[in-house]
Amino acid sequence: MKNQRILSGVRPTGHIHLGNYLGAIRQWVRLSQSLSKQGLNEQLFCIVDQHALTTQSDTNNLSLNTYTIAAAYIACGINPDESAIFIQSHVPAHTELAWYLSCIAPLGWLNRMTQFKDKAGKDTGQACLGLYAYPVLMAADILIYKATQVPVGEDQKQHVELARDLAGLFNRHCDVDYFPLPEPLINKSTARIMSLRDGSKKMSKSDLSDYSRLHLTDENDLLTLKIRKAKTDSDPIPDAIKGLESRLEAQNLLGIYANLTEQTLESVCQQFAGQLFSAFKPILTEVVISTLQPIREKIFQLREEKSYLNQILHKGAETANQLANKNLSEIRTLLGLVDR
Ligand code: TYM
Repeated sequence: MKNQRILSGVRPTGHIHLGNYLGAIRQWVRLSQSLSKQGLNEQLFCIVDQHALTTQSDTNNLSLNTYTIAAAYIACGINPDESAIFIQSHVPAHTELAWYLSCIAPLGWLNRMTQFKDKAGKDTGQACLGLYAYPVLMAADILIYKATQVPVGEDQKQHVELARDLAGLFNRHCDVDYFPLPEPLINKSTARIMSLRDGSKKMSKSDLSDYSRLHLTDENDLLTLKIRKAKTDSDPIPDAIKGLESRLEAQNLLGIYANLTEQTLESVCQQFAGQLFSAFKPILTEVVISTLQPIREKIFQLREEKSYLNQILHKGAETANQLANKNLSEIRTLLGLVDR
């Protein structure tokens, strides 16, 4: 099997939630474990703090959030001995490559990015340049390591595809086969965990309502309350997926249960067929708590062990800088710059 290099990241904005865990981090842990078994252990997990700066209010708790995400990676099962866990701003090569990619990226490609349109709102003239250029920095995060696979949730697919297109463009621009074309790895059943308040919107750190998402740091009482208040309907659970069509909230809660208990949605429907959500919610709550409680306790414990976390982040940055600087030097030469 060809060597694979995995890279992914989470923005340290707001509260890390179940969508981030199921859509991204749980996948990283599984991939990471299987690659390590095969001796192909090139995995980089980044806390993308410079991306957080693109939404201004995020500077307030940036440092605490950065440590929380680092702690969450480990608490969820990323092994710091087998993966590089590091902070984006500790590896300056990301922003340097982002500039080089900016010099070839066609504006037309960036204009298609839906996340910019969502985040910038109606008055795009007031949005900052960083928010617009965000996908180019994200491409640099991936390409600076020549990563081959990028495990993410569905909402990041367009950005990873842009990274892939920019890799191809760079290769043609320099007439070399330099960057491998990175692939998004998206797990179908966890690609989009939806808001608990509105089943048509994804669970998101930026949703104004805390009740729309289950945070990895929520206490058990709060998890219970959020699930109790989660929007549902008064119909009984159907005996097959087909009966969930147009019942978005019902589908989301059953889907979360299916994912946490490692079952298919179809078998969960069969198991609870005919029951009301008032009876199902306490069962879901139990499963959520048994998954999130140990993660929360570990996050809190690690956040108290700052020097241990700093040691891991330092080691991760050292590995990342080594790989990135080697590639950056080659990239500078390919672009005709005089290397140092
Ligand atoms: P971020 O911080 O918004 O989300 C981190 C990861 O969680 C996934 N995710 C979800 N998956 C399923 N359901 C949801 N409701 C849900 N919400 C979030 C995201 O898809 C993501 O995988 N731009 C990225 C961070 C980034 C990055 C990178 C990722 C920057 N550079 C390089 C990969 C590679 C972001 O904002 O993710």
